[in-house]
Amino acid sequence: MKQPAIRFYDEHPTPATMQEEVLQGLSAQPRRIAPKFFYDERGSHLFDAICELPEYYLTRTEMGILESCADDVAQLAGPDTTLIELGSGASRKIRLLLEAVRPRSYLGIDISREFLRQSVERLAQDYPWLDAHATCADFMQDFELPDVAGDGKKLAFFPGSTIGNFEPDEALAFLQRVRRMVQPDGALLIGVDLKKGPQILHAAYNDRAGITAQFNLNLLQRLRDELDAEISPQNFRHRAFYNSVRGRIEMHLVSRCAQDIRVCGRRFHFESGDGIHTENSYKYSVAGFHALARAARLHPHQVWLDVAGLFSVHYLSAERGVGR
Ligand code: AVI
Repeated sequence: MKQPAIRFYDEHPTPATMQEEVLQGLSAQPRRIAPKFFYDERGSHLFDAICELPEYYLTRTEMGILESCADDVAQLAGPDTTLIELGSGASRKIRLLLEAVRPRSYLGIDISREFLRQSVERLAQDYPWLDAHATCADFMQDFELPDVAGDGKKLAFFPGSTIGNFEPDEALAFLQRVRRMVQPDGALLIGVDLKKGPQILHAAYNDRAGITAQFNLNLLQRLRDELDAEISPQNFRHRAFYNSVRGRIEMHLVSRCAQDIRVCGRRFHFESGDGIHTENSYKYSVAGFHALARAARLHPHQVWLDVAGLFSVHYLSAERGVGR
């Protein structure tokens, strides 16, 4: 079928090479590899499977909140909105929002060029009334926003509690960047996982089917496949726990034995029990997240929670005291 026309802008982001970052992270103490490297094709499929797990409450809880608040969001956003999605356009969440808000234009921003093109083309096909745009850019850096907006305001959308994977200083810088993007009168709709009893969190990141373990260990398979690393994933195990002092889930890959691994000709020694820190997933209280938003000069306008108080969706305005 002929693909519908979308406007495609390219900022030519240059992702740091995996080799450089991995070697740096393995040489650091404590050892670490950034969570962005989870998402090769297999890793992305494993993450989709995580989202369907009974223990991983985040995705379905956020979806439930969005279903019940979508009309309120449409009211707050008003007519002629430009909806800016930070990340891909592949999820059911953006479709729900498109149908409720009926924005004049949509702009998808993602660093992954072909994935972005395909998902925005799919949206344009399914919503022929939509003026669809895509920008290939790294939204963790400053970049130029194409001028797609009419007179309406900009509503940025960042679901999934992905902000939890940023360190607090990165989260603040990200919110400041989004504020610059939507000002003077726009807003950010953002999903944020809440602090809660450690048992629920522990179960969510240590599912019984072992999918999160496969997701974590897939990183080592990627090192083998893409960097020719000499490493046996079966010599490592998945570990995830809630660090209550830092308010975050930590994921690690822990060596099962004393061993050497080789990456790009460099040798790294592990004693049994030594680890590689692969992810943090910060959990916020509503008050804690509001404080972070205010520090970025985004004003908490409304927050929606599920009945069990597991997850939050915030509407933050660039302009104080203004909903629409
Ligand atoms: C993408 N991100 C919000 C997920 C999270 O919960 O931090 C990634 C994930 N890691 C393990 N399970 C899911």
